[in-house]
Amino acid sequence: MQRQNSEKQIKLIPLKAEHIDRVYEIEKLSYSNPWTKFGFLSETRNPFSLPFVLVKGEEIIGYIVLWDYGESLHIANITVHPDYRRRGYGHFMIDFARGKARELGKKMVTLEVRESNTPARKLYEKEGFEAIGTIKGYYPDNRENAVIYRLKLED
Ligand SMILES: CC(C)(COP(=O)(O)OP(=O)(O)OC[C@H]1O[C@@H](n2cnc3c(N)ncnc32)[C@H](O)[C@@H]1OP(=O)(O)O)[C@@H](O)C(=O)NCCC(=O)NCCS
Repeated sequence: MQRQNSEKQIKLIPLKAEHIDRVYEIEKLSYSNPWTKFGFLSETRNPFSLPFVLVKGEEIIGYIVLWDYGESLHIANITVHPDYRRRGYGHFMIDFARGKARELGKKMVTLEVRESNTPARKLYEKEGFEAIGTIKGYYPDNRENAVIYRLKLED
């Protein structure tokens, strides 16, 4: 299961245990409260999780973790290495999630994001997600609010 962009050197492939050191390196560069290596390993063993790494040439430059949640495909993690941001890879992974959701017969793609995370919120809004609610104090490290986004898929 893989999808390639038009340049042919970018692809998403299923996350495997041997990818986790690099994924964790990117995770630490990207979040104040990173997932652990064990957390990523658990995703590879969870039957409801679809974790993928974004590979450019031979290098892992990002990843996306999708959860199969009833009527929704939930984006649990989407991350691009800081050196590769603003080049369309976030869009590429959202597009992949949208395609996967359709393949699985889902009605929507959902996610939650820190209220202060402007880059991610701009990306989601550009992709057609709508903010449908807020969870107060959702993030335990600083009690920041989460904004819930939903992308409805047409029939
Ligand atoms: C959010 C993230 C995945 C976006 O990835 P990306 O590859 O940089 O996104 P893209 O290049 O596809 O950007 C697509 C659009 O999103 C918006 N966008 C992305 N980053 C932005 C920023 N820093 N400021 C404003 N708008 C931004 C823009 O509209 C952009 O289009 P443009 O470049 O033509 O203006 C990336 O910033 C990231 O990994 N952040 C850290 C991890 C994170 O916060 N993940 C989300 C957790 S919910």
